[in-house]
Amino acid sequence: MCGVVGFVSKHGLAQKNVLRGLSCLEYRGYDSTGFACIDQQSRLHIQKVVGSLNNLIPALEAKSIDGTIAIGHTRWATHGMATLENAHPHTDCGQSLALIHNGIIENHQILRKQLQQQGHTFTSESDSEVIAHLAETFIQEQLRPSAILQKLSETLQGAYAYIILSQNFPNQLLIARNRSPLCLAIGKDGIFVASDPLAFPEQVDQMLFLPDKSYAVVTHNEYQIFDFVGNLLDVQLEKADKLVVVSGKGDYEHYMLKEIFEQKQAILRTLYEYKSGQTIQERLGLSTQAIKELEEITIVGCGTSFHAGLIGQFFLESIAQVATTVQLGSEFRHKTFLPRKKSVCIAISQSGQTADTLEAVELVKQHKVPVVALTNVAQSSLARESNGLLVTQAGPEIAVASTKAFSTQVATLYWLAHQIALVKGLIDNTSMLQVEQDLEAVASMLEANIAVHKDSIVADLDLYVSFKNYIFLGRHVTYPFALEAALKLKEISYIFSQAYSAGELKHGPLALVDATVPVILFSHPDESIYKKIVANAQEVKARKGFLIVFACQGQEELLELADKSFIMQTGPALLSPLAMTGVMQFFCYVLAKKMGRSIDKPRNLAKSVTVE
Ligand code: F6R
Repeated sequence: MCGVVGFVSKHGLAQKNVLRGLSCLEYRGYDSTGFACIDQQSRLHIQKVVGSLNNLIPALEAKSIDGTIAIGHTRWATHGMATLENAHPHTDCGQSLALIHNGIIENHQILRKQLQQQGHTFTSESDSEVIAHLAETFIQEQLRPSAILQKLSETLQGAYAYIILSQNFPNQLLIARNRSPLCLAIGKDGIFVASDPLAFPEQVDQMLFLPDKSYAVVTHNEYQIFDFVGNLLDVQLEKADKLVVVSGKGDYEHYMLKEIFEQKQAILRTLYEYKSGQTIQERLGLSTQAIKELEEITIVGCGTSFHAGLIGQFFLESIAQVATTVQLGSEFRHKTFLPRKKSVCIAISQSGQTADTLEAVELVKQHKVPVVALTNVAQSSLARESNGLLVTQAGPEIAVASTKAFSTQVATLYWLAHQIALVKGLIDNTSMLQVEQDLEAVASMLEANIAVHKDSIVADLDLYVSFKNYIFLGRHVTYPFALEAALKLKEISYIFSQAYSAGELKHGPLALVDATVPVILFSHPDESIYKKIVANAQEVKARKGFLIVFACQGQEELLELADKSFIMQTGPALLSPLAMTGVMQFFCYVLAKKMGRSIDKPRNLAKSVTVE
């Protein structure tokens, strides 16, 4: 994980630009933050702190260090705890260089041992520190910057994007990437390097993504990029995307709350984007024939995106009539992938940067199966690795807990299933129009349901926060929705919560139920499923469980069993999770707020999970 940023300027003031860049990269982790620069007298300064940029800024102000060349790092701890020693930048024994790194060096243990035998002293537990000591040995061999980077690429194994700042090359940044992302932008006053274009200032209009397995030497006005064999690469600059402007929280106390209330507009914008411009064939990168003949869809994703995929499976199977499986990115590599001939993979990722999902995509591509990215970031690694692209228009999602990305993913999958059905001749254009209207209506219900229930949720908060554990239940499409609800509650409130298929309750989890355990049950509009849900609710009540239901209109029997209930407008049955999304997220949000949690940046988490 972690975010790296660097700036080589013509006139100085590198610090301001690096700190601004870092503030945009905190979604990649905030366990510690660090800065390094070389001043006019070629002295190297390093400042690091535990915690976020808020702690670094006063520390830097106290020292007033700046220069024409600087780097910054925001960390999500993998190897070694979140301490000052493990914070980046790391340095060499001679303290003449500063190194920042995103990724994991897989052969760090063996390298560390070898370097220690050669007399190097390590000051941290971090895998990254080996890069600093290795670079030191190559500098001592009097190698040129490009030769140092070449030697490092031959020695290091694992995923990395790193930047080295050295007193020996005081006007150059040495950068390299293998699997972890790194990009570069040309500014008026110098050249920027970062893990994500988000870190570039608005005035920058030309940028490039470093190709995988490449390194570069960067000065304030030029750069040369090489592949790991040492060939000079001609990488075209592209226009920087100006849409990634992060607006503030406005009147909202937290980004999460703002993003919950942005969902209706996000769904409408996403639909609008799909209805205009490209055809479904162009978006998927598949011919009409290929869509008609699809035998199988494999969905991969992690966390909330995985849950959206599980809901989408119901859409793709029942509407588009295509057999669909949903796989966790992190588990996919351990399985045997036996794709049918006419197969496509849909990789779902809000950030488009999740390492486990990207790794799964690489494996899928080895089987020559086309990949469609369903992402919120059009310029992400996932978007660039894929044959087809569906971009949700949620806008930047800042809170770590995913909200509007989830609802736009679910809306996209519903729309997509109908588009495939349309191409296959299973539905006609009139039905497609109705589908789009339904989605628009459910987007409004999502918002209206929050308005109806928010006061009663807040009124009972003392009761809700008194519980130590929560069980969530659902059936059919509301089962994966229950998984998402349990994830949401645990990640922001730290209350242990677990989801089960309501039918599975009697196969074990019922043993947990008593008067102290609240069970949140998501109902379903379909009559036959509803009947089973009522039976499950009775099982809970028979064990004195505290039953909270998200019911659909007219479900009186269920309401009578409930200790607390929220009646939802739901629209078409398959879209009921979407209609319930806002209230579920709001419930989790206010619980976490009542408990005084760090809602936008929960402990131990980061927005983008760029390590496997
Ligand atoms: C939960 C959450 C995570 C992400 C997961 C995948 O609220 O945000 O579970 O959904 O880390 O991230 P993306 O969608 O960026 O691949």
